[in-house]
Amino acid sequence: MVVAANERAPREPKYYVVKRHLLELISSLPPGSLVPTERVLTVELGTSRTTVRQALSELVGEGRLVRRQGSGTYVAEPKISWPLEMTSFTEQAAAAGYAATTQLLDTGRRRASEEVAGRLRINAGAPVYVIERLRLVDGAAMAVETSQLSAARFPGLIAKLRRAASLYRVLDDEYGVVPVTADETIETAAASPREADLLDTDTGSPMLVLSRHSFDANGEPVEWVRSWYRGDRYTFVARLTAR
Ligand code: GLP
Repeated sequence: MVVAANERAPREPKYYVVKRHLLELISSLPPGSLVPTERVLTVELGTSRTTVRQALSELVGEGRLVRRQGSGTYVAEPKISWPLEMTSFTEQAAAAGYAATTQLLDTGRRRASEEVAGRLRINAGAPVYVIERLRLVDGAAMAVETSQLSAARFPGLIAKLRRAASLYRVLDDEYGVVPVTADETIETAAASPREADLLDTDTGSPMLVLSRHSFDANGEPVEWVRSWYRGDRYTFVARLTAR
């Protein structure tokens, strides 16, 4: 192409230059590294603070950077791709090449609310086990999970779960129950102070909340579970097939 001498190539907006520079910086640093402050970047890149701020905010929104309140901006950890499948957390982690571990946070025997009773097909007020667990991947806390199961159907479940990491393994080995189908929903939420504390993130940070209502081969409900995953660390992947 012949370009007339008086025709200039359009100049790239400063903001793109800054963003590209920041992307280069991000890919040169290990995850978890602190990036320079807005003030330092403004000086280094010879641009306005507004431009730097806008580029940083976009990179936070795109999940490449993480802002920690009162601490700074860091290179984000890579996200874990997790297929949406009818398997357990422990199995999913192993299939993806990670080691899953579990901490029992809270357990109790409570009376089923109307909603939980309806889901588990038991009478309202019948006993349910409420089991709250912290789920870790390669030692990093990734999700807080609260499972509710009928105490009459799974007597002694909590004691058995104290000795095992996988609920599904215990259900199969001890009760001969295998969840084979589930209705699962995914919603977004903001981390509560407690979730933020458990998951080593900030209050208000994005969470992906998965609710699973699973059933055995006879169509009997097995569990009603809500899991709060770190939204900045997870990508859930579903394989879709045409009808
Ligand atoms: C996933 C599901 C839960 C299920 C759990 C069992 O996290 N969302 O509904 O209870 O797996 O996992 P595990 O057998 O490792 O305890």
